Amino acid sequence: MAKKAKKAKVRVRGYVKDLVGFFTLKKTREAWIETGSTEFDMSDHAAELAKQLHPVLTKAVIADIKDETPTTKTFTFKALEGYELPYFYAGQHISVKFCIDGRWVTRPFSVSSAPRDTDDGILQITLRKMPNGYVSGWVWDNWKVGTEVKFDGAFGEGYWSSIRDTKHLVGIAGGSGITAFRSIAREMLVSKRPEKFTILYGSRNENDIIFYDELNELAKQSDGAIEVYNILSDAGESWQGERGFIGADMIKKLVSDWDKVSYFVSGPQPMYDYLDGEFAKLGIRNKFIRKEEYGETADITASALYPKGHENETFKIKVIFGTEETVIDAKATDTVVVSLEKAGIAPDTHCRSGACGWCRSLLLEGEVWQRPQSDGVRASDKDHGFFHPCSAYPMSDLTIKVESRLE
Ligand SMILES: Cc1cc2nc3c(=O)[nH]c(=O)nc-3n(C[C@H](O)[C@H](O)[C@H](O)COP(=O)(O)OP(=O)(O)OC[C@H]3O[C@@H](n4cnc5c(N)ncnc54)[C@H](O)[C@@H]3O)c2cc1C
Ligand code: FES
Repeated sequence: MAKKAKKAKVRVRGYVKDLVGFFTLKKTREAWIETGSTEFDMSDHAAELAKQLHPVLTKAVIADIKDETPTTKTFTFKALEGYELPYFYAGQHISVKFCIDGRWVTRPFSVSSAPRDTDDGILQITLRKMPNGYVSGWVWDNWKVGTEVKFDGAFGEGYWSSIRDTKHLVGIAGGSGITAFRSIAREMLVSKRPEKFTILYGSRNENDIIFYDELNELAKQSDGAIEVYNILSDAGESWQGERGFIGADMIKKLVSDWDKVSYFVSGPQPMYDYLDGEFAKLGIRNKFIRKEEYGETADITASALYPKGHENETFKIKVIFGTEETVIDAKATDTVVVSLEKAGIAPDTHCRSGACGWCRSLLLEGEVWQRPQSDGVRASDKDHGFFHPCSAYPMSDLTIKVESRLE
């Protein structure tokens, strides 16, 4: 009863306040006009705030490089004067711009530091050097402390949200996919969101595990809120932990409430394809599964879905950008974006997975094969001839119109 009376009192007080405000509105306005400046304020405060929260481009310097494993390093960025580190949710990625031999390319990397680390003026990414990796190999040879880098972001849906995800989150990572989960775990210690985070992390062997000590330390500090299980496919004899691959049986064994939780998956492409079947076995509905963007495929001919017979073909692409027209060569096994980059006319890209629509372009003539795992082109866009060049392969000569160009 007392609660109800209190609520009613608050409501009446609010109503009286509104009425008084309404009747004194004219007077208050006149007083403001009287005391206000006669100079017209041209500044756009909303735009300034938006620019601070979402900088178009951040230029930064590499302040530190840490070896994590024999093939993985963490790079610490500090914004250069006049630039801001972007705000982001733990689990999102940035798009780093590289100029290699005079030609621009971009690569997405999950932010491995936590949003709270930006309070200390730093943002980190953790890179694994891929065998013959075009960009990752170049980074190994060229990025030093003091090197200037530029990137934009943050992007992606791989962050925890109270309105769509359960309070207990299960993160399944493979290889360098753990970087996003390190960010979530670090942030969780201060935000307590989600309430529980179970990480199932698959690696080949002990040497490949990234953040082994740090994640165990975070788990210790979290009072049971963070759990980390390392699962090794090729472990040495002394390994005491789990062995094998992360599939339905492993999930059931390690996660007691496996049928009531949200899953995030971040790892190599074969892991996504494999887990699709395992989630289906467990009867987990799609709304409880979130995957990091699919990424690029180093060798598309290894995919069973790639149209047979095109492997050795080369086509011409007429590229229209504004009033310019350029004709370039394109292999049927390179995405249209990779061909544009090789020709030195790179469009800007963010996800390179067909998902975000940033590279959306018009296909005026010809035929492309859009990789099914990353066909994020909306039906209405398809009807109007749009496609996503970062995940589309030419199947004939093409004429395309692109909207953006990296400098
Ligand atoms: C959302 C997201 C987050 C990611 N986060 C991380 C992370 O935290 N850590 C991490 O290590 N990786 C991460 N990756 C993967 C990363 O973006 C790169 O794919 C990875 O570093 C390999 O790049 P690479 O150029 O070395 O590999 P490559 O396999 O050499 O290159 C990939 C593509 O580049 C093309 N290519 C080859 N030569 C050229 C050329 N001359 N010009 C232009 N293109 C060429 C290839 O055809 C291939 O399609 C993430 C990927 C995604 C999608
Ligand atoms: S860069 Fe995201 S769809 Fe192409």
